[in-house]
Formats: sequence, structure tokens, C-alpha cells
Amino acid sequence: MWFMRQAGRYMAEYRELRQRVTFLDLCNDADLACEATCQPIDAFGVDAAIVFSDILPVVQAIGREVRFDKGAGPRILEPVRNADDAKTLVRPDVADVLPVAPETIRRFIKARPGVPILGFAGAPFTLFCYLVEGAGSKDWVHAKRMIFEQPELARSILNLLADVVGDYLQAQIDAGAVAVQIFDTWAGTLSYDDYREFALPAVQRALARCSGAPRLYFAKDVSPFLDLLPQTGADAFGVDWRADIAQVRASLGADVPVQGNLDPIALFAPPDELRRRVRAIIQAAGPRGHIFNLGHGVIPSTPIEGVRAMVDEVKAWRW
Ligand code: CP3
Repeated sequence: MWFMRQAGRYMAEYRELRQRVTFLDLCNDADLACEATCQPIDAFGVDAAIVFSDILPVVQAIGREVRFDKGAGPRILEPVRNADDAKTLVRPDVADVLPVAPETIRRFIKARPGVPILGFAGAPFTLFCYLVEGAGSKDWVHAKRMIFEQPELARSILNLLADVVGDYLQAQIDAGAVAVQIFDTWAGTLSYDDYREFALPAVQRALARCSGAPRLYFAKDVSPFLDLLPQTGADAFGVDWRADIAQVRASLGADVPVQGNLDPIALFAPPDELRRRVRAIIQAAGPRGHIFNLGHGVIPSTPIEGVRAMVDEVKAWRW
């Protein structure tokens, strides 16, 4: 087990670190990022670390400035809306422009020998959403309009993102990540056909560029696309809490590992109810090929006792 956003603002140790530096500075400094990566390992004894970073350094790497204003989420200063904007994007050398996550992985391996560490990147479509929209959104009007009005332009941007994501994941594998995960947070905003035509081929393209460690694909709200997931080429799949994990396993086949999928808000539940829900997921997922996780990231106001109860309940389980 590990869980999404296991290092973050719900931890006092993390908030203390953030008083000294901004979030972007934290992502740009391998020493500090390594310190954040270690925090949930030391506090809870989860089975694996995930390198502390964000998905948006890839957007910076192709030529856009990213800001995190207090409480407002990410902002891309010059969103890409047309072919002229797209001409200003660059195809970077990943080793040159994205060195921090691989370096953080190397430092973590020295700092906590024997603890597995995952690398990650945003999925091309999810990165496309931020790049085109310029910020988070409920409806993703600009990102979807580009798909509807300028599908070839959308494809060329998705291909660029896929190539950078693939090389970036490979660099993290080469640095020692035991597995890598692609986060496709906004894939579930697409129709079935648009997912198949735009988001899916870009994930395929990214994953085709990296090898040497298991590659996980997490997508939120993708229950309607379960039958398409194997086409991504991923080795295992993370699902959000809306999906019934037994049904997901039945759909993907017993040989395909699945990760998930406790509702992160269940961490606020009374301890007995939370522990019951943890056990129900483990039982439903079955004895083999299940990585316990949340169905999405832990949110900042989460009580630490809930996190501890979840981890303890998973670790106490015996088949
Ligand atoms: O899981 C981990 O512990 C690793 C770290 C990690 C972060 N972001 C740290 C973070 C990972 C894997 C991510 C991925 C990420 N980032 C995704 C995909 C997963 C998901 O959550 O759906 C997305 C969409 C982003 C983009 C992003 N970064 C947003 C929307 C925000 C703002 C959210 C908010 O609640 O303010 C961030 C900032 C961010 N990323 C923080 C952390 C710890 C908070 C920054 C802070 O300290 O102020």
C-alpha cells in the first residue's frame, strides 16, 4: 500500500517545510523534495514512497510558465489556444530540463535504503487540459473546444506531451523507481469516443517509450472506459472510489493488478466505520494483485488519525 498525495498539507511536518519555501521551490530542490518524500514513510510506514513533485513541471519543460497562487490551484500564464500559440512550444531534452525528480529518487534510495519508490507523470490529456485551459476547470471548455475545432492541432500537442512524459518516466526508472504511474485526472471528463480518439492514443504513445519497471495508469471517473484500459499498454490500473473494485477486477481479468480505491473522504469517518470500509475493499479485491490505495488524493483537512487507522488496518490484514 501507498496513497496518493501521501506527502502534503494534512501533515504538520509538511506544513512546517512549506513555511520555509514555496511549493514550486520544493519541487525544484531535490534535497527538500527528498525530505518531503520521506515524511509519510517515517510517519506511517507505508510500503512505498512516491517521489515528491507535481505533474506540471512537464508543462514548464515545453515552454510555459506555471504559478501556484495561494489557495487558487495551478495557473499557466500563456495558455495554448491556437496554432500560433502552439508554435512557441518547445521539444525539450528531458535530461536537461527535468532533472529534479530523477535526482530526488536517487537521493531517496540513499536516504531510505530498501524502501521502494514510485516515479510519476501526468497523462498527456490531463496536461493538455491545463496547458490549453490555463487553469483547473469544471467544464474544460477551451481544452474540449480545441479537440472539437482543431483536432489535428490537439493531436500534435498530445503527441509532444506524450513523448516528454514517456522520456520523463524512463529517466525516473533509470534513476531507480521500482514502478511509475501516469495520473489521468481529467480523462473522465471526455465522452467514450473522445477518450478513445484523443486521451488513449496519447497514453499508449507515452507508455511505449518507457520500459524496465511496471507502469501503472490511474484515471479518475473512468469506469465507463474500463474495456478500453488494456489498450493503454499499462501493466496495472488505479481506479477511483466510484468503481466497484471486484467488478473492475472481473472486467480486466484476474492477472491484471489493480490499485485502489478508498474514498479519501472516508478518512474522516468514525474509526470503526473507516476500518470496515478498508477491509471491504481488501476483501472485494481478493488475495493477489491488489495494491491498496485511495481512490484519489488525500485532501489537506484530513485528520491524521484517519490516515493512521487506514494504514494500520491494511497492515494488520491476513488472508
Ligand atoms: O502523491 C504524492 O505524495 C506525490 C506528490 C504529488 C503532488 N501532486 C503534490 C502536490 C502528486 C503525485 C501530484 C500530482 C498532481 N498534481 C495531479 C494528479 C493527481 C491528482 O491529484 O489528481 C494533478 C492534477 C496536479 C496538479 C496540482 N498540483 C493541483 C491541482 C494542485 C493544487 C491542489 C490544491 O489542493 O491546492 C497542486 C499542488 C500540489 N501538488 C500540492 C502538493 C503537495 C499542494 C501544494 C502546496 O504545498 O501548497
